[in-house]
Amino acid sequence: MPKSSTTDATKLLAEGHRKVEELFEKFEKTKGAEKKQKIVHEICTELNVHTRIEEEIFYPALRGKIEEDDLDEAYVEHDSAKALILELEQAQPDEEYYDAKVLVLKEQIEHHVKEEEKQRDSMFAQARKADVDLEKLGEQLQARKSELMEEAKAGRLAPAEMHTLAS
Ligand SMILES: [Fe+2]
Ligand SMILES: [Fe+2]
Repeated sequence: MPKSSTTDATKLLAEGHRKVEELFEKFEKTKGAEKKQKIVHEICTELNVHTRIEEEIFYPALRGKIEEDDLDEAYVEHDSAKALILELEQAQPDEEYYDAKVLVLKEQIEHHVKEEEKQRDSMFAQARKADVDLEKLGEQLQARKSELMEEAKAGRLAPAEMHTLAS
């Protein structure tokens, strides 16, 4: 995929969604415990970083500028994904329910991505109409993403913070 030249926040985040969708597809075609675990690890890292940059930078920038309920729902959806991610990070691929957990995570993410990006009046569509500097936000998201990816590679990524669930 050609590297995008824009720093528009919604495009940058949408690229992150495509990346995770590809990984889920790859998982479904993969056999063998070790390979599966590697893909799941990649999915979890991508999602950990993605949810974090949205929660640290993107969602707060939209507060007061788009539908309040949509933002609240997004935090709750993130938290339930984080709970599954936590379980998957500690699980072995031959464990009972492993594949089911990956598939449920995939379905949850699909639903979430639809609300953020794909449906009518999605969060991103609202953001594009709102008084928000998407270019500047995109630069901030990209910078933070690079930092967190480095931390993840070094195995130093802090556990996800729960906003709506008791952790
Ligand atoms: Fe997202
Ligand atoms: Fe999100």
